[in-house]
Amino acid sequence: MSHDSALLKAVMPSSLSSSQLHREAVARLLQANIANASQEALWIIEEALGVNRVRLLAYAEDPIDPERCQRALALIDRRASHEPLQYILGSQEFCGLEIGVKAGVLIPRPESELLVEATIALLRSHPHPIVLDVGTGSGCLAISVARALPDAMVVASDRSLMALRLAKKNAQCYGLHSRILWLAGDVLSPLLSRGLAGKVAAIIANLPYISHAEWEHLPPDVKEFEPRLALDGGPDGLDVYRRLLQEAPGVLAPEGQVFMEVGMGQADRLCEEVANTKLFEVVNVQPDLQGIPRMVCLQRVGHS
Ligand SMILES: C[S@@+](CC[C@H](N)C(=O)[O-])C[C@H]1O[C@@H](n2cnc3c(N)ncnc32)[C@H](O)[C@@H]1O
Repeated sequence: MSHDSALLKAVMPSSLSSSQLHREAVARLLQANIANASQEALWIIEEALGVNRVRLLAYAEDPIDPERCQRALALIDRRASHEPLQYILGSQEFCGLEIGVKAGVLIPRPESELLVEATIALLRSHPHPIVLDVGTGSGCLAISVARALPDAMVVASDRSLMALRLAKKNAQCYGLHSRILWLAGDVLSPLLSRGLAGKVAAIIANLPYISHAEWEHLPPDVKEFEPRLALDGGPDGLDVYRRLLQEAPGVLAPEGQVFMEVGMGQADRLCEEVANTKLFEVVNVQPDLQGIPRMVCLQRVGHS
């Protein structure tokens, strides 16, 4: 902590202006090695004070209410402990939607938008398709697909009841709650008792795929704050996907497709394993914006 910063900590927050608050916030974030310190400090201050940037700048030298100042600095300290910004601000943008997030549920990532785009492209002219989002988390995929395909029946499942509660709440914000069937349970087991066997046109899956070796090297923002249940895919990261592919033929319609998000280096391995089962053929593997093979698309062949 800088000398100035230590001094401020001791006397604060009696009468800081927003420009002083911003300087102090940036100092605390830089001290904690937060890369985008100035921008993040602004977002957090806007949230804590309930004002936008224009107002902050217009009244930059006016003293701020000490209670609000405290609140802002408490949020800054959470970020300085490497809690993800999205948990602090309470939301993340995904496919143009504001998705609510909270500790215990994975924050949506931009690369997962590939799954939504592929599902929409496949089913746009399909009459009344049934789409399953397995491991729905915040519901970002199910909600985006339900919104883009008004004819579809969407099923969203997760092992985590906390995730399902948040996903339902997010769907409510967009008036889509009743368009989605919410199921709790492990991989595809909750679907079988619902009469959905052989009827699902597409399964979208962003299931845990971090291997144990990768887990050790995750940044603290992820490793210490995001739920392990959402990330840990077993020794080589593919345990949950192997189970999905064993169970998927039972719920997919003939020629139904599976879209799976995978990590770096996993697409080839998964495709090889799939070729050995003869239950699916690989339609394609799509890269994300960084060129990493990110989404494996399979089609069911034959009948189980
Ligand atoms: C990587 S997160 C993805 C969340 C969300 N679909 C997204 O794209 O942001 C994986 C989700 O799968 C759930 N999950 C993990 N293992 C599962 C299992 N065996 N059966 C069902 N859901 C599971 C986790 O609770 C978590 O919500």
